[in-house]
Amino acid sequence: MDKFTSIDPNSLSTSELHKMLLLSVAPRPIALASTVDKKGNVNLSPFSCFNMFSANPPILIFSPSRRVRDNSTKDTLENIKQVKEVVINIVNFSIVEPVSLASTEYETGVDEFKKSGLTPLKSNQVKPPRVKESPISFECEVDQIIELGKDGGAGNLVISRIIHIHVNNKYLDENGSLDTKKLDLVGRMGASWYTRVIDESLFEIPKPIHTKGIGVDQLPDHVHSTKILSKNNLARLGNLEKTPSQEEIQDYHKSDNNISQIMNISDKKQQIKEIHSLAKNQINSANLDLAIKTVFSVL
Ligand SMILES: Cc1cc2nc3c(=O)[nH]c(=O)nc-3n(C[C@H](O)[C@H](O)[C@H](O)COP(=O)(O)O)c2cc1C
Repeated sequence: MDKFTSIDPNSLSTSELHKMLLLSVAPRPIALASTVDKKGNVNLSPFSCFNMFSANPPILIFSPSRRVRDNSTKDTLENIKQVKEVVINIVNFSIVEPVSLASTEYETGVDEFKKSGLTPLKSNQVKPPRVKESPISFECEVDQIIELGKDGGAGNLVISRIIHIHVNNKYLDENGSLDTKKLDLVGRMGASWYTRVIDESLFEIPKPIHTKGIGVDQLPDHVHSTKILSKNNLARLGNLEKTPSQEEIQDYHKSDNNISQIMNISDKKQQIKEIHSLAKNQINSANLDLAIKTVFSVL
């Protein structure tokens, strides 16, 4: 039996809640934000409270929050209030350590490009420079800053509209699209953990685009009390577009030794177990066409 701990967020201190949120809402992409103050002093800092929220208009949002420690605000936020522009540079594995170094709380006015060893390049349409080593840089105008509170830990949503994009060609595939595998992106987890997108951590979930998946509720009743098929296994079957016909199932029984042997098992419980094990193997080896016929072999 699963046990759950109930937590009233008001019963936690802000730093306990912050820690829990950072561990829970992860991995988070990292925006390396380049800004300038009105005198032209450059600042470079990472923010993982970050995502894309709209393609039309093209909007990125990140949040430099008030420090939990002393309720002070970050230089990035103060700069953006003075000059409403930001370059959001995407962070991949090749620059993750300089990016972490750039998060050091240097005094106001210190240029973290110099401290981190990353290279500033002049932007096309905004004053803050972009990061040469970043795979993709988004030059943005800041449309709005939404303060979420006045106390330590409060976020400030910086709603940034993309006006120019730089992509390093070495991250493109032969069709000119960004290549997930080449990008080698990293994500921020809780505590001091990061994650890296490498071959072994990537997987695909096929999804019907033009038609709807049948849904797990259309699978035979016996699968819902299974201890063998996981929720992921069932959803993979529910993602298929149609249930097999009786004729297809009969042909399958005639042509496949594994299922024909299972159909001869007289102990019903044992037979269902075998059906689920066979379907699981078939799902794991991407034989979904067979797996759906296997589960529908017994109703
Ligand atoms: C990977 C990473 C992600 C971070 N994400 C955030 C964030 O989303 N919000 C935030 O306020 N601080 C975040 N920080 C901490 C800031 O980068 C840090 O406070 C920095 O010193 C702020 O710099 P500034 O005062 O020059 O703007 C993050 C640090 C790292 C290393």
